[in-house]
Amino acid sequence: MLGKVVRYLKWIRSINGRHRRMEIGRRFLPSLRRQYELDVMVGPIGYWRELQRYQIGALQRLGLQPGHRLLDIGCGPLQGGLAFVRYLDAGRYTGIDVKPSAIAAGWQQIERAGLQTKRPQLFVSDCFGRDELAGQQYDHVWCSQMLYHLDASQVDALFAQLAARLAPHGRFHGDIIGYPNEVTEHSHWGGFRFHLHTLDSLRQIAGRHDLTVRDLGPIEAFGYPQDIALRTNRLLEITRVSPA
Ligand SMILES: C[S@@+](CC[C@H](N)C(=O)[O-])C[C@H]1O[C@@H](n2cnc3c(N)ncnc32)[C@H](O)[C@@H]1O
Repeated sequence: MLGKVVRYLKWIRSINGRHRRMEIGRRFLPSLRRQYELDVMVGPIGYWRELQRYQIGALQRLGLQPGHRLLDIGCGPLQGGLAFVRYLDAGRYTGIDVKPSAIAAGWQQIERAGLQTKRPQLFVSDCFGRDELAGQQYDHVWCSQMLYHLDASQVDALFAQLAARLAPHGRFHGDIIGYPNEVTEHSHWGGFRFHLHTLDSLRQIAGRHDLTVRDLGPIEAFGYPQDIALRTNRLLEITRVSPA
């Protein structure tokens, strides 16, 4: 039996292309099946670890400290979230997502990793935390690979929440589609459309909420994998115009 499993593993490793490898491997190995199901919830199949490293690496570079309070909007099944929870002090991580299945998968992951003692908070929310996070403020708000699934009126609602949720010197980071890229307004992912926001269009919305937007450059400069097309996405930083 063990010999058979080892032969399967060697064969799976010899298959070209991560997506194909996962597609075939998941038919035989329960652990790959579980990982495949998680990958499908976040984007490119077969990049979980690299994308997790990118997310924690980027936020640490942007100043995240263990004692900081972090709000992860569109957290999915905690690809970045698990690394954030591990790194942060207890009670410092909050993740929200519009999909109940993503939050359920997130809780399963917390349990599997034995991270309950870190007391993360996870919520299903379709209003960017307006109804779930009353009174809470955050040093960092993170929004990875999600801003471009929001239309202009949703961005406005998100920024209204940011104005309420950012601590006086808190910072928001999230990415928009950058170029070159083949994504168009007609592209879809996981039931979500793509919206091609620009720095200027977001600056206009941010201005209504006393927020200011800065372009920090392509996400590949923050460790995003070089072989995924979205590496050209621009990472934006949003802060209060006047920290009260
Ligand atoms: C591409 S996935 C990225 C997940 C995670 N941020 C990551 O990078 O690993 C986009 C996530 O945004 C969530 N999402 C989309 N629209 C949302 C909304 N209006 N409010 C909260 N979450 C949303 C989706 O359900 C999905 O989990």
